[in-house]
Order: sequence, then C-alpha cells, then structure tokens
Amino acid sequence: MFRNLLPAVVLLGVASIPHAAHAATPFELKSVKLDLPDSDKMFPDGPGSDVINNNCIACHSADMVLNQPLLSKQAWAAEVNKMINNYKAPIATEDVGAIVKYLTAFKGAK
Ligand code: HEC
Repeated sequence: MFRNLLPAVVLLGVASIPHAAHAATPFELKSVKLDLPDSDKMFPDGPGSDVINNNCIACHSADMVLNQPLLSKQAWAAEVNKMINNYKAPIATEDVGAIVKYLTAFKGAK
C-alpha cells in the first residue's frame, strides 16, 4: 500500500522545494556599475601609425604592444605574423610592411 503512495509523496516534496527556496533566499538580479580602466590609448603618431591603429588594437590595447621589450625587425615581423596566423587577426598582407616598419622605428632593438 505504501508503494502506491511513494510517488505522490516524492512529487509533493519536489513541488514544495522551489517555494521553500524562494522564501529562504529570494533570487534577485541587480545591475552593478563598474568602472574598468580606460584603454583608448592609441599608438603614438608617426609614419604608419594609422595602419597600426587600424589593425592592432581590436583585440588588445596599444599598451600591450608598447610595453613589450625592444625587438629586432625580424622579431616584430614574426610577432605580426603570429597575430595573423595564430590569432586570426584580419590584417591585409599589404599592411604588414608598414606595421613592421612602425614597430621597428618605435620599439626596435638598437
Ligand atoms: C584577432 C585579435 C588580435 C589582433 C587583431 C592582434 N592581436 Fe596581438 N595578441 C592577440 C592575442 C590573443 C594575444 C595573446 C594575449 C595573451 O597572451 O594574453 C596577443 C598578444 C600580442 C603581443 C604580446 C606578445 C605575444 O606574442 O603574446 C604583441 C606584441 C601583439 N599581440 C602585437 C600585435 C600587433 C603588432 C598587432 C597588429 C599587427 C596585433 N597584435 C593584433 C590577438 C590579436
């Protein structure tokens, strides 16, 4: 006889859980205002700065690039190719030269 009652008891128990939970901890979504650090810094003006500003700050800040150590021209070229090949940066082939030139002028190893 109790076997027949079991599903009803379980159902009642399950049905009462949301109610109990609601009463104990009311779930409420709230908007939170939060200020992230500004990152609208561009690459400093110079030959090729337009090209690098158009291609290199979509995914990370200019600072991320400018805070790297001084690198040789070959190393900068490899870095730009890494962005294109590994991270799928949509950079036109004809822009690569100007970007590498800019990086070598501003952050080139002497
Ligand atoms: C499609 C997105 C994307 C674009 C566009 C992009 N990058 Fe990156 N870049 C990344 C990612 C992802 C990382 C790795 C971030 C990390 O490790 O936290 C990175 C890291 C870097 C680093 C740090 C060193 C390293 O190799 O991890 C440099 C320098 C860099 N990018 C330069 C550039 C330059 C120069 C350009 C423009 C030619 C560029 N990025 C455009 C995605 C991008």
